[in-house]
Amino acid sequence: AIDINKLRDLTGVITIDPGYKNSGSCKSEITFLDGELGILRYRGYSIEDLAEKASFLEVSYLLIFGELPTTQQLEQFENDIKKHTLVNEEMKNIIDGFPKTAHPMGVLSALTSALTAFNPKAVNVDNEKEMYEAICKTMAKFLVIATWTYRKSMGYPLNYYDNTKGYVENFMQLMFQLPTGPYKASPVVIDALDKLFILHADHEQNCSTSTVRMVGSSHAGLFASISAGVSALWGPLHGGANQAVLEMLEEINKDGGDTDKFLAKAKDKNDPFRLMGFGHRVYKNFDPRAKIIKKAAKEVLETLGVNDPILEIAKKLEAAALEDDYFKSRNLYPNVDFYSGIIYRALGIPTDMFTVMFAIGRLPGWIAQWKEMRENKEPIGRPRQIYTGHPLREFKPNK
Ligand code: ACO
Repeated sequence: AIDINKLRDLTGVITIDPGYKNSGSCKSEITFLDGELGILRYRGYSIEDLAEKASFLEVSYLLIFGELPTTQQLEQFENDIKKHTLVNEEMKNIIDGFPKTAHPMGVLSALTSALTAFNPKAVNVDNEKEMYEAICKTMAKFLVIATWTYRKSMGYPLNYYDNTKGYVENFMQLMFQLPTGPYKASPVVIDALDKLFILHADHEQNCSTSTVRMVGSSHAGLFASISAGVSALWGPLHGGANQAVLEMLEEINKDGGDTDKFLAKAKDKNDPFRLMGFGHRVYKNFDPRAKIIKKAAKEVLETLGVNDPILEIAKKLEAAALEDDYFKSRNLYPNVDFYSGIIYRALGIPTDMFTVMFAIGRLPGWIAQWKEMRENKEPIGRPRQIYTGHPLREFKPNK
């Protein structure tokens, strides 16, 4: 019989790093971040510059192809995306199979995976042309099906992409245009969304991106890998935090607005409650995206004339936490999700769609990381473990 304890000695040195807090999984040229200094750059450009001066499609091109596009290249990219905005009619049968109450992230993950069935060419990308086509298809169809998850939950008829409008404007139209009348999103709204998508576009080897790379490392196709990324993003410790933040702020509001009470709960080690939207695995100083988003939230609410008590609670909570020794000593600062939900709410986006918004923003990052992983010919991801279960046991059949 094999002695498992002897075998263990033959496996060599295995490092255990739960949560991969100190383990790098790859080399990457895409995103640089310095958690101590609060620096975030895409392909060498600062997030502050990009959020201020670039468009989401420009940033998507930059992340995916490595350089900012010329005017012509950007136009070409946008046109190539438009060629693929139709989604196979049979996808509607799949969406009809879900109950109206299904969470949009679950539906989005399933629909993204289902795209493989209708676009088999985007599954095996063997050359640059196929890779480019798979990228444009993903950028096009993901946006459409993301908005379909919302329309399904509302019982609205499904909408089609309008090729006369821009990408972000299309998002609003796909979501909110009803057969009863025309819909026009305000430029302030489009601008704010563009910024939000840029801020979410990539964040190096976070949970969902690592998942996309890991799934892709087995040479699963782009849609299948992105679908796995959507599932990873869904959790409340990752992208799901923006929904959790809003729910927490609403709960505080309903409870009478006593932020101190919730602060005390978050500090109580016997209480599982955490202050949602606070803390970050990498940023141990501040999250540079939170600064930009805080300003954008203020601008959007002022321009749209929204007077939201939730924003007041958010500000009070942030001020109290920043003064609190528990949060200070653990370097817990508001992260990007603390303010994004407030903007989404002002734009009329329902709470359970917040993480879908994050996914739309993160899509070019996932694509860029997947492409880099394939181009670098990275080996299949396959971590090791240290076995802590039973030694060999004898199987005795039941009489
Ligand atoms: N509220 C209260 N305490 C917290 C919080 C919080 N939000 N975040 C961390 N802590 C405490 C922990 O209890 C721990 O305390 P201890 O040292 O006394 O045990 C200490 O701070 C360190 O926390 P870890 O969980 O070890 O930090 P980690 O880097 O593993 O987790 C995470 C980071 C998951 C983001 C965490 O801060 C958290 O759960 N935050 C709330 C959820 C959230 O906002 N997630 C969004 C992340 S950003 C994004 O995905 C875009």
